[in-house]
Amino acid sequence: MANETYDFGMIGLGTMGRNLLLNMADHGFKVAGYDRDAQKISILEENANKGTIAKGFTELADMINSLSKPRKLMMLVPAGNPVDDVIKGLLPLLDNGDIVIDGGNSHYTDTLRRVNALKEKDIHFMGIGISGGEQGARNGPSIMPGGDAEAYAVVQPILEAVAAKVNKTPCVAYLGKHAAGHYVKMVHNGIEYAIMQLISECYDLMHRGLGLSNDELSDVFAKWNKEDLKAYLIEITADIFKYEDDKTTNRLVDMIVDKAGAKGTGKWTSQDAIDLPVPVPTIDMAVTVRNISSFKDQRKEAAELYKTAVKKIRKDKDAFIQQLHDALYFGTLISYSQGMSMLEVASTELDMNIPLNEVVKVWRGGCIIRSSLLDVFVKAFEQHAVLPNLLLDNGIAELLLAKEQNMREVIVTAINAGFPCGALMTALTYFDAYRSAELPTNLIQAQRDYFGAHTYQRVDEPGTFHTEWIKVKL
Ligand code: 6PG
Repeated sequence: MANETYDFGMIGLGTMGRNLLLNMADHGFKVAGYDRDAQKISILEENANKGTIAKGFTELADMINSLSKPRKLMMLVPAGNPVDDVIKGLLPLLDNGDIVIDGGNSHYTDTLRRVNALKEKDIHFMGIGISGGEQGARNGPSIMPGGDAEAYAVVQPILEAVAAKVNKTPCVAYLGKHAAGHYVKMVHNGIEYAIMQLISECYDLMHRGLGLSNDELSDVFAKWNKEDLKAYLIEITADIFKYEDDKTTNRLVDMIVDKAGAKGTGKWTSQDAIDLPVPVPTIDMAVTVRNISSFKDQRKEAAELYKTAVKKIRKDKDAFIQQLHDALYFGTLISYSQGMSMLEVASTELDMNIPLNEVVKVWRGGCIIRSSLLDVFVKAFEQHAVLPNLLLDNGIAELLLAKEQNMREVIVTAINAGFPCGALMTALTYFDAYRSAELPTNLIQAQRDYFGAHTYQRVDEPGTFHTEWIKVKL
């Protein structure tokens, strides 16, 4: 085996890197992995299925030299400086035409910088979003590649082999130029934040509001997962409520501190949306609520000060659960709409040329936000050559209108009972504002012109106008 050459190399053999490599090996590719930690090498080799080839290296140069040319390699290391450190170590070992993939959750501006820096050295650097967690990496993730189209063509067969499949179609496609892969993955995560927040608000209303037990909650989510809300996040939520704590007699979910962590991709989505600018208020709210949750001590103090007590929801249980189902469906659909409209604008503004119809296909399987709704979106993009917002599709409009009233009733009930429900509210407000031909922003323009001579446009003639408002007042 001394002169064996390998088809693909992985730098970083944490669970994600190892699992993705083993997935490649299962599909007949000869793979090599590098990690400084010899134990991780052993775990890789021990877990390789019989008849597959997965070789570990503790020396980076040895791994690089073992790859067939042009070399195809991926790094799965924490975003930020570690990626630059790996690139620095790699450069002296690479040849022209080699392909280096960053499969982590890097910020797209970092990816852009790296793409350009490596292009000067004739090395293809690609940012590829990979979703699906540890299980996804092992059994079929959703893969979001972007960057050099020629380099993509070289790695395409490997990525297609390992990706999740929906109706035999691999959940991977070329998603655009430059840093498009990491951009699409960032927005995927923003949508993920929004849906998770919507689910947690519905959980709160059923748990503290209706008084449902964990078993009942699990049953509700399991039922929803069989219907039009079928989605990975709904499925795992049903599982979570069943999980027994091994230290107490409680369910584990009740023993978890209510402070949400965040690695940053949701925040990046919000930040970039503001810069574009594109409204994604449900994603913004999801980030905000995670931030509020971290102020646990202040929340406790405020709860005492305000004698906070949510009211029980005294409505017919089954009827309210149905309303919650509709509200969650409505909010989830709106969250995807916000994310997709952001991709639409960013595609042009950042010159990425993102094929939105391919994005929704790639998200159908393997990723955290996979859901039966993606099939609805695929259909919508089949019917429109250009669709700046999913809300402009007739079929989607019908779906939303059918759930709208229940969405309103859930929010009214939640507000009157004192439940925080920011994600639900922002989803409805976005809907109400987006579908309004008229908004009261004429007044804002008048105010801006009044105090700052910022000018305005008139409804009855073209041009830009300014008024000396003080005189009008006199
Ligand atoms: C995925 C996930 C994955 C990860 C994120 C979320 O698509 O597989 O989105 O990328 O779970 O890091 O992390 P935070 O919630 O910590 O931001």
